[in-house]
Amino acid sequence: MRKKIFVTREIPGDAINFLSKHFDVKVNAEDRVLLREELIENIKDMDAVLCLLQDIIDEEIIDNANKAKIFANYAVGYNNIDVKYAKEKGIIVTNTPGVLTDTTAELAWALLLSVARRVVESDKYVREGKFTEWKPNLYLGQDITGKTLGIIGAGSIGKAFAKRSRGYDMKIIYHNRKRDLAFEEEFKAHWVDKETLCKDSDIISIHVPLTEETRYLITKKELDIMKETTIIINTARGPVIEEKALYEALKNKKIWGAGLDVYEKEPEIYPGLKELDNVVLAPHIGSATVETRERMAMMAAMNIEAVLNGREPITPVKLK
Ligand code: DGY
Repeated sequence: MRKKIFVTREIPGDAINFLSKHFDVKVNAEDRVLLREELIENIKDMDAVLCLLQDIIDEEIIDNANKAKIFANYAVGYNNIDVKYAKEKGIIVTNTPGVLTDTTAELAWALLLSVARRVVESDKYVREGKFTEWKPNLYLGQDITGKTLGIIGAGSIGKAFAKRSRGYDMKIIYHNRKRDLAFEEEFKAHWVDKETLCKDSDIISIHVPLTEETRYLITKKELDIMKETTIIINTARGPVIEEKALYEALKNKKIWGAGLDVYEKEPEIYPGLKELDNVVLAPHIGSATVETRERMAMMAAMNIEAVLNGREPITPVKLK
């Protein structure tokens, strides 16, 4: 009998066709995240589940996945899955590392350039028909060249972000749990503690996974010691920053600006944040290019195919 797979949402590319050659595939036909009870209903008797970052795969869901061998997450981040419990139940969890590294780093740069040069505000100004003459003081932004770049989390995306700073002759400082000597050598980067990074950086870009350790890594305390000219970029996970404190720092011009792709209570945005001009807001599109989203889909599908055919997964999530 063909094994059964449930895909919690339509995904781009050939992944579903690929899976359908081997298995019976059911895809959630609705263009929305499934309610918890719908998810429970659909994963019963499935041999594999291809899930999204909004699907909360906790103990209850795992207990209901009575036949599942694998949860293949369509994301590199896997904070939505109780990996420890899945492991206890003998279920493999996989993610999509590598294929979205450059794409996410590119979005972080897009946000940085937009904030520093006030691109979104300027666009609005032009569209509103307000551009009537060149003015010496119109939308003055900030140079990026020669500035100090502070990277929180120099993993693969943090490094890809750092690599793209080369044309801007920046000084790189970084904060990781552990020092990365190869990174330091390649980028002439300096490891610093979090406080020093917050104090000394002109630009801070966040690239850590969401864990109990990184939740609220940036709160009022850290924002208070940043420069008035600091720009902060978050393409990682929203709860790494205390959004209320960020809103207040931006509103009171304690820092220059922010570029956000992720939010503390996604998709909710902290009240008032949307009204501020010094923040650029994106709808969690870090990995959203045609090529990358297709690669992510295929990677998730290939993990399922491998596991259901008795082979090792390609990109298993390992418990730290
Ligand atoms: C991820 O992969 O974790 C991103 O947030 C979505 O692509």
